[in-house]
Amino acid sequence: MPDAVVTQAHDAGSRPAAANPLRSGLTTGRISDACNIVFFGASGDLFKRMLLPAIWELHRGGILPAQTGIIGFARTAFDDAGFRDYCHEQLTAFSTSGPPDDELWKTLAERISYITADFTDPAHFTQLKDLLDARDKKSSKGGNRLFYLATPPPVFPQIIRQLQTAKLDPHSNKKGWTRVVIEKPFGTDLASARALQREVEQVFDESRVYRIDHYLGKEPVQDIMALRFANTIFEPVWNRNYVDSVQITAAETLGVEERGGYYDGAGALRDMIQNHVMNLLALVAMEPPSSNDADAIRTEKYKVFAAIRQPKLEDVAQIAVRGQYGKGTVDGKPAKEYREEDDVRPDSNTETFAAVKFEIENWRWASVPFYLRSGKRLARKRSEIAVTFKSVPHRLYGESTDAIEPNVLVLKIQPDEGISMRFEAKVPGSKQHIRSVFMDFNYGTGFRIESPPAYERLIGDAMRGDQTLFTRWDAVERAWELVTPILETWLAERDSSFPNYLPGGQGPATADKLFSGWRPL
Ligand code: BG6
Repeated sequence: MPDAVVTQAHDAGSRPAAANPLRSGLTTGRISDACNIVFFGASGDLFKRMLLPAIWELHRGGILPAQTGIIGFARTAFDDAGFRDYCHEQLTAFSTSGPPDDELWKTLAERISYITADFTDPAHFTQLKDLLDARDKKSSKGGNRLFYLATPPPVFPQIIRQLQTAKLDPHSNKKGWTRVVIEKPFGTDLASARALQREVEQVFDESRVYRIDHYLGKEPVQDIMALRFANTIFEPVWNRNYVDSVQITAAETLGVEERGGYYDGAGALRDMIQNHVMNLLALVAMEPPSSNDADAIRTEKYKVFAAIRQPKLEDVAQIAVRGQYGKGTVDGKPAKEYREEDDVRPDSNTETFAAVKFEIENWRWASVPFYLRSGKRLARKRSEIAVTFKSVPHRLYGESTDAIEPNVLVLKIQPDEGISMRFEAKVPGSKQHIRSVFMDFNYGTGFRIESPPAYERLIGDAMRGDQTLFTRWDAVERAWELVTPILETWLAERDSSFPNYLPGGQGPATADKLFSGWRPL
């Protein structure tokens, strides 16, 4: 039976939905199964900034079933009341819809509990089991459990083993379903990802594993498939006959902020390219799936990665570029160089910018380069996919001095959300001047709605049991395989030019050697 639907909670305007034709069809699927969600790492940054506000919005929108329970499980000492107060404070600071309404907050707060825990101590997992069992007894719809791993990644295997020891694994739960949500990064390289997967699969089969890549929860990212497969005009030209190159950018203006400890062991290739940016590549390059089924889609995405030519160590210098930001000025204020950031080694060789060229060896994409780049402290925050088409075969228009630019279709992911098409037009007048113009679609004005934050969608989907927007192990493993030679080369060879780009710029000049056509940020 299809889920019932309710009107989307994120109403950017004040007119009722029915009065505005732009908003017709805006719906959000209600979640049918109540469950208890256990947030491991509930005193951490991710919980307060992203997960708690997402739960709150689901509650506010009437999407969360009434009997849903929230259990925080973390090291910081709280009792239930103390944790509820903490949640209220954090919501006041981070909720996307302003401070929580008192009456509505009470109806959520009464379902929140907390366990102060040492992840190495089995007794705390037994305490969790007792709490879940007691809640299940009280509720007519009890039994369903969602374990959300939002701790630092080194703790993931420990939690998974402890869940099994405490008989909190799916097979011991006879009353309902048990699923696990695993935050990124899933491993720090191929070997560690495989080791983590071995731990995971001993307890949870793939159908119960929800690996997060929050980019997949962003509305414009979900729209990539709709653009391609709900329209007829794009697909006929979406191939090597018409596409010259594809460039995918995930640029940030921020530096590493307070996350130097994590980031210095990761770098841009692991932190962004291996997951977020490669998922964008998969959505742009995949074949049409046979249905909207999660595995039909994920199989097509995997097939893209399988078809990417495996780089060899000797290719790395030709297909990858790295950078690290130096000292400079951001928004008129002095900005530290990366090596001076907190918890970063003063001689760090970690890249804060990475650009990679991949080639997909299949019928559709043979010889079309895919350029990927991501970096911190760049000129603008901007994530986008630009598909550049081939030039016209014969020059018929334009004065001799006019450049005839190729068509570019830009899928804008953030901060602007929309689609833009560049094409050539005749400049009014008696001469035959030609110049580029743009056809723009913007989600905000097109639907008169603010896109819901990614985590809201993803938590809801995990509760619904829809894995479409979560990464499957075969694709994660293959993505690690593809970046491994680059990682290994960069680990083995220090880059003596670091720091090699200024904050607020376009990244290292060497990126232009990889590709001279980067779109300016
Ligand atoms: C995270 C990375 O996965 O994505 C961060 O660990 C990065 O380093 C962030 O800043 C970017 O996400 P968004 O949604 O702001 O583009």
